Amino acid sequence: MKILLIGSGGREHALAWKIKQSPLTKKLYCAPGNGGMAEIAECVDIQAHEIDQLLAFAKRNKIDLTVVGPEAPLVEGIVDVFENAGLKIFGPNKMAAQLEGSKVLAKEFMQRCNIPTAQFRVYNRIDEAKEFLTRAHFPLVIKADGLASGKGVFICKDLLAAEEALNQIMKKKIFKEAGKQVIIEECLEGEEASILVVSDGNDYVILESSQDHKRLFDDDLGPNTGGMGAYSPSPAIFGDLLEKIDARIIDPTIRGMKRDGAPFKGVLYVGLMLTEDGPFVLEYNVRFGDPETQAVLPRLKTDIVKILQASCDGKMKKVNLEWDHRACVCVVMSSGGYPGEYENGKEIFGLDKIPETSDQIVFHAGTIKKDHKILTSGGRVLGVTALGDGISKAIENVYEIVDKIKFEKCFFRRDIGAKGLLHISNSTRLTRT
Ligand code: AMP
Ligand code: GLY
Repeated sequence: MKILLIGSGGREHALAWKIKQSPLTKKLYCAPGNGGMAEIAECVDIQAHEIDQLLAFAKRNKIDLTVVGPEAPLVEGIVDVFENAGLKIFGPNKMAAQLEGSKVLAKEFMQRCNIPTAQFRVYNRIDEAKEFLTRAHFPLVIKADGLASGKGVFICKDLLAAEEALNQIMKKKIFKEAGKQVIIEECLEGEEASILVVSDGNDYVILESSQDHKRLFDDDLGPNTGGMGAYSPSPAIFGDLLEKIDARIIDPTIRGMKRDGAPFKGVLYVGLMLTEDGPFVLEYNVRFGDPETQAVLPRLKTDIVKILQASCDGKMKKVNLEWDHRACVCVVMSSGGYPGEYENGKEIFGLDKIPETSDQIVFHAGTIKKDHKILTSGGRVLGVTALGDGISKAIENVYEIVDKIKFEKCFFRRDIGAKGLLHISNSTRLTRT
């Protein structure tokens, strides 16, 4: 099969790496790809938002399957465009992609389907939103409705912070149209976990759980980022919790979307808060998580191309997933300054000292290959990933590799996976008493 993968981040490198392992893959193109993807696929100079050009490329090259990495083209309707042209493409159509494209629509959907989520109000006028704040309980959470590259959520500890968030979103319009409406919602407490579900609109499979690390600094301090690391599986999901998540959240979501005339085909990312009252949905995304994918796919033994095809062909029922039972940890190495301003073009040293084996892979995100050198070209630069027998060993393995890689002003967290370890030691203590 000829496969076209759209995107250029760490998530897409992990997808490309996995797709390449399939005996079904005869040729893999990545648009636009990155320095790491260039090593395993043919990169094409078309950006993820250039839908017409992507379609023309897919037709010209007789692509058998297109896989979309990022959310923006999905929300723009790339799946509708390809399907109308008779081409096979993995991902939700424009209507189903609204689960990520509009947080307001997603919250209203959850409310209609009785899916547990934080209580919320929707505002499209700043004066009314501010009036509500004067009688609200803090902390609370303010979210821009539309796509904001993961930056549209403000956790506000007091009135001042909440008013500032509203000013940023609705007055300064930092997210443009995406901030026309806001959600003000209850702040949930608990541990977070991410679940990826692949569906054909009717049937679905649930991938192994994972946990992201959104904050920039160790101990979950500092600003939110796209994600500074992840591990899989999440030890916070044990016992019958996954069955509860399926019964209360995943199954009603897939059924609800079908009932609404927008069957969900593709990968659904469910961001969860595991509270004392059970699992709550924080957000839906309509694509693979980044960096969760880098920690989940190395554990997947099943041929990913078969899974992607089954989603497109309505054959999810036939898919059985097999997993490597080791733990996997991904540490993101970023450019100093990220998620704010940073410099590109720094040469990355040490990559040649890291042979790719079945239990260690360096996924590239913001990199480019130039004159046989790999240079930084983005905020999140690399997703260094390692497996190990248990999370502790995976952490040890991953940091051993991280310490061999150098570039100017490189930054990474030192505690990826530590939360998982803590969870395991707590539950061991509990089961012993
Ligand atoms: P989202 O983009 O909706 O996943 O939000 C980004 C991050 O904000 C989440 O991963 C959580 O850490 C946090 N967050 C979002 N909504 C809430 C909420 N209702 N309560 C507490 N934290 C939240
Ligand atoms: N890791 C968070 C996301 O993919 O949105």
